[in-house]
Amino acid sequence: TLPAAGYVATFLVSTQDYLVNSPGRAVLLAVVYSPLLAIVLNVLRQLVLPRDPSLPPEVFSFIPIIGSAISYGNDPLNFFFKCREKYGDVFTFILFGRKVTVALGAKGNNFVLGGKSTAFSAEEAYTHLTTPVFGKDVVYDVPNEVFMEQKKFVKVGLSTENFRAYVGMIEEEVEEFMKTDGAFLIYQMNDINEWGRFDATDIMAQITILTASRTLQGKEVRENMDKSFSELYNALDGGFTPLNFLFPNLPLESYRQRDEAHKKMSAFYVDIIRKRKESGDDAQDMISALRTQKYRDGRLLPDHEIAHIMIALLMAGQHTSSATGSWALLHLADNRDVQEALYQEQVKYFGNPDGSFRSMTYEELRKLPVLDSVIRETLRVHPPIHSIMRYVRSDVPVPPTLAAPSKDGTYVVPKGHYVLACAAVSQVDPHIWSKPLAWDPTRWSDPEGAAAQAFNTYADENGEKIDYGFGAVSKGTDSPYQPFGAGRHRCIGEQFAYLQLGTVIATVLRRMEIKLDQPVPEHNYHTMITMPKKPRNICYRRRAFD
Ligand code: HEM
Repeated sequence: TLPAAGYVATFLVSTQDYLVNSPGRAVLLAVVYSPLLAIVLNVLRQLVLPRDPSLPPEVFSFIPIIGSAISYGNDPLNFFFKCREKYGDVFTFILFGRKVTVALGAKGNNFVLGGKSTAFSAEEAYTHLTTPVFGKDVVYDVPNEVFMEQKKFVKVGLSTENFRAYVGMIEEEVEEFMKTDGAFLIYQMNDINEWGRFDATDIMAQITILTASRTLQGKEVRENMDKSFSELYNALDGGFTPLNFLFPNLPLESYRQRDEAHKKMSAFYVDIIRKRKESGDDAQDMISALRTQKYRDGRLLPDHEIAHIMIALLMAGQHTSSATGSWALLHLADNRDVQEALYQEQVKYFGNPDGSFRSMTYEELRKLPVLDSVIRETLRVHPPIHSIMRYVRSDVPVPPTLAAPSKDGTYVVPKGHYVLACAAVSQVDPHIWSKPLAWDPTRWSDPEGAAAQAFNTYADENGEKIDYGFGAVSKGTDSPYQPFGAGRHRCIGEQFAYLQLGTVIATVLRRMEIKLDQPVPEHNYHTMITMPKKPRNICYRRRAFD
């Protein structure tokens, strides 16, 4: 960096010589020099000014305010691994004016996700992104203890009884989709020799929203799926991007469309609730579960809160599940041995003598080792959410076992910073996992291996449980494997996601063989949820049985 500062200084001197001899030089000087001056001052601040030794090391960057936004935004994992080599497990980088302190590794995960909500606030980190999309009075628009109650209400709708009914519904939706969607024309022609192809993510996005609306969201949403609802969903989704996270209020068309779509979608759900009240006709779904719940003070949920929770669930489950399903299908297409093992598992448990299959029950679905390990491994290598952030409300010391400036010292993350945990790093850490980047579901069947150990700390049935206000959950904050987060903000959609993904993958592979004619795509980090980069086509061929 010092030679770079030298080049900048030489450049400044030579441009000055040129400008002083030109007309309008004052204006030109200001235009050319102010950004350069800002860069020089920024570089000098980092290289020359004494630093507060209690602050974690700061990642060097040239451009003030923007900081390391470009390196982080293009490839956060590569950026974090490089920073770790240079600065250790705890360091601060600048992201469009925000100071973000990253804590890596299992201990880093524990520091951020196990922190107290009085010190680390999710709502202050996310509300500007989520409230315009979900709506008022829910999730990050309310104090944490109220949101914890809302999570408890949602868990009522995610009951085992409901899940039992969902498996068959999801199978039906997937079968119907394959029979009717244009991407499966070759399948529909009943030709078992010809290969067709589909875009993994486009297809999974459609299957995910159809199956979620048929099950969790309720029949009214499913009925409107082919009509106005999907347009509203797309407009709302266009307001849930990294740009919206970085800049809450830009005068852009997508922001306006987001606000309009939110109003319409909220009214759509409120109308469903009103009609159900009037007709007395309820269903076995999330809306009906939420209608019966009461806050600790005895208050029922008002209709707009139910509507906004439904929107939040729709958004929380859509990209996460469709990304995971896309990656799983892409890897299964790439790895024909695992695909065959998964198919044979289906044949073994559900195959009929004529080559057709019977339906799975929810209990059976939960006990399929190959299918289960395919999902676990996909979530290890491709966790949909790479960065989890919290706003720092008060100075928080970093435990010396995680990172320390010297033998006796302690770093402090000051109030006003953000903290960031990245399980995507610990999930592929070469110190923990053998062949960390290889997608290998068999690692989950070794009872002594790193995978089993990581999973036990994450989800041990008999391990430490904590109730943060939405029922007891495994603590899991210090596991290197945590695709569903951990602690008080842990995902409550995990079982539903496994059920949905397991049923979709099994139903697709029962009916078709898949393969790739390209390598598995790289990660696209430019979306909120980590997606496969295009092209991401899967070739398919119908199986013979029907
Ligand atoms: C929270 C991942 C599916 C609802 C989270 C968090 C992660 C996550 C990492 C923690 C966020 C944080 O700490 O800031 C996933 C993945 C999914 C998935 C990988 C699918 C493969 C779902 C589904 C639903 C859902 C289907 C709804 C039915 C939620 C909710 C939270 C959450 C309500 C709580 C947020 C909080 O407490 O701040 N999820 N999720 N998720 N997820 Fe999921």
